Amino acid sequence: MKILVTGGTGYIGSHTIVELINAGFDVCTIDNFDNSYPNVLDNLKKITGKTIEFDEVDIRDKYALKKYFSEKPDIEAVIHFAANKAVGESVKFPLKYYENNVGGTINLLLAMQKADINNIVFSSSCTVYGEAQPPVDENTAIPIANSPYGNTKQICEEILSDQSDAVNLHVVALRYFNPVGAHESALIGELPIGIPNNLVPFITQTAIGKRESLTVFGNDYPTPDGTNIRDYIHVVDLAIAHVAAIKYLLNKKYSSAFSVFNLGTGKGNSVLEVIKTFEAVSGQKLAYQIGSRRAGDVVQTYAACNKAWNELGWKTERSLEDSMRTAWKWEQHLKNSEKK
Ligand code: NAD
Ligand code: WQD
Repeated sequence: MKILVTGGTGYIGSHTIVELINAGFDVCTIDNFDNSYPNVLDNLKKITGKTIEFDEVDIRDKYALKKYFSEKPDIEAVIHFAANKAVGESVKFPLKYYENNVGGTINLLLAMQKADINNIVFSSSCTVYGEAQPPVDENTAIPIANSPYGNTKQICEEILSDQSDAVNLHVVALRYFNPVGAHESALIGELPIGIPNNLVPFITQTAIGKRESLTVFGNDYPTPDGTNIRDYIHVVDLAIAHVAAIKYLLNKKYSSAFSVFNLGTGKGNSVLEVIKTFEAVSGQKLAYQIGSRRAGDVVQTYAACNKAWNELGWKTERSLEDSMRTAWKWEQHLKNSEKK
């Protein structure tokens, strides 16, 4: 069973490749290195003992995609990670996001249709829910998106749903909450280019001395300690969920052609709780101060995960401590490899 992973040298894609190989799948992957580096492939080989079948393909190039599929007749299913993901950047450059995330997905679906590949797992996001009352389940009404990035995820879900109504295509859309942490080996992890937007890389970069201090964006929210609440899911648990989703598709466990699942822990943690957990597992005091609210932040969100628990037979196994410990190990690994 060969699975194509788009965006496979990226953060979640690379961890998913490891878990697919652990589960006995053959994997091939494409990326354009827009937000990742070729050495991830060497590190995947160190972790799995396998050379990863890789081609540099840009999903905006529909001819390259069609050619790729024509040369790989044994692909059974696709996991589609390749996209741009920075919310703020999407506000400044909406067309970049619509072209890559929406246009790229359409190109991929066209190429899959031509190659008669009928199964796809799609990376969606909790951002589609906006400011919904947690725990958020999959039946929550989807509001108007609050960023072009969020809109690309909503539009792609609609395109996938329409296409699954029209042709022989089976879709699992996975709505991730906040992926954090890294592989235990510290050979792969999140690699933010430039100043990180996300909390956990900002924490680890501050602790290692790359950033002076962390600003907590507001402590006057209506939450127990005044800071925002999110559902932080360990990236290895998230990767394992993709294996479950692939098995769900290939074993035809679905009851409709388009299925959507939340992927989270089902538990919310505040920004201050994340900082305290980091301090506890790293033994480092973190330099931080309270700042003003960040525009666009929802007060609190966490997932209702019963659907994934029941239908995918998947549950998170890793704790926030595990996430912070492995994120810290990864940051230290990055520093050591810079020295070499
Ligand atoms: P990432 O940037 O680390 O990985 C994405 C990969 O796709 C990168 O390696 C990038 O080079 C590649 N890529 C981008 N455009 C491409 C193109 N045109 N052709 C080929 N490759 C291309 O991001 P990630 O955190 O691993 O996210 C993976 C997916 O999950 C994305 O679709 C993202 O929107 C979604 N998601 C991420 C998060 C998160 O917080 N990380 C949360 C929810 C959803
Ligand atoms: C988490 C919390 C911040 C940085 C984003 C995307 C979402 C999805 C997941 C892709 C918030 C606070 C952060 C900092 C802080 N991605 N924070 N200081 O915003 O929940 O979600 O990633 O689909 O679409 O929007 O994640 O990590 O940016 O923030 O206080 O320097 O940390 O205010 O409460 P977010 P995040």
